[in-house]
Amino acid sequence: MVPTIEWKDGIVRMLDQTRLPLEVTFFDCRTYHDVAKGIKDLIIRGAPAIGIAAAMGVALGAQEINTKNFKNFYDELEKVCNHIGSTRPTAVNLFWAINRMKEFTLSNKEKPIIEIKKVLIDEANRILQEDIEACKTMGRHGAQFIKDGDTILTRCNAGALATGGYGTALGVIRAAKEEGKEIKVFADETRPVLQGARLTAWELMEDGIAVTLITDNMAGYFMKKGMINLCIVGADRIARNGDVANKIGTYSVAVLAREHGIPFYVAAPLSTIDFNIPSGEHIPIEERNPAEVSHIFGKTQIAPSKVRILNPAFDVTPARYIAAIITEKGCFKPEDIGRLK
Ligand code: MRU
Repeated sequence: MVPTIEWKDGIVRMLDQTRLPLEVTFFDCRTYHDVAKGIKDLIIRGAPAIGIAAAMGVALGAQEINTKNFKNFYDELEKVCNHIGSTRPTAVNLFWAINRMKEFTLSNKEKPIIEIKKVLIDEANRILQEDIEACKTMGRHGAQFIKDGDTILTRCNAGALATGGYGTALGVIRAAKEEGKEIKVFADETRPVLQGARLTAWELMEDGIAVTLITDNMAGYFMKKGMINLCIVGADRIARNGDVANKIGTYSVAVLAREHGIPFYVAAPLSTIDFNIPSGEHIPIEERNPAEVSHIFGKTQIAPSKVRILNPAFDVTPARYIAAIITEKGCFKPEDIGRLK
């Protein structure tokens, strides 16, 4: 598959996910402001991918700073970090990556600025590589939950497109397939931005994994008919008690799954766990532009002009609905996730 994001000859190249599946085009970021725009406008999206983009944005911003004095350099770098950190509030990977880049800078403060600029690029690339490895390991851990012949419901896109590559929820599905299991995937379309219809359906078809696209309101119908064996989703932030924020509508899927006795799993790397918050109530939920709801891709209007609209991008699934959280360190009951610290 085409890389979701890469550092290439001094620029950050993002696969433009707003254009998929109709066009495979790239958004080249030459400044950290471009990277912030890429994150905010969903050119790159998905919690781990947002983290990688943030790290590369910090490295790019570092190249733009013109000083030989460490204190001045670090002050400017903090401005870069604050700007990138203001793009999207829910996915904790964004803040995790920014903090890692800041700490890495401080731990290299004795080096000349020109050298610090170089090693920041290396560190951002390391975050990318570590994420790909984490997804593959997570996939191997999670594949045990999938049996030959299963049909899996997923929501949004938690695939290669949402990570450095391979994916979290879709990584588990890929690993099960690599083990030789015959599996099918039902992808929720995921209104309002349609990550399921546009991205998950595209990504799975590219990989030759059988995928059926359904609208968001069909999940209960297919669960009741016995056509879904398990659900696997990704996460944007996991609280210490195992509550999980993920794409809006995930909570409804989890409740439906419980009603039908279907296990509901979450796959996410450690960088998605926010050890600082005790429960999901503390997770900030991004409220996005109402035009995402009133219009299809800013083009076709589908609601009366000026109708009142709410557009929270995420919801929180309480830990009690989750059978297990799959991480690169193994699979955990949600109530045990806080111990991973
Ligand atoms: O608004 P998005 O597209 O960034 O939302 C993405 C999701 O909700 C994903 O399910 C989540 O980030 C996990 S990605 C591995």
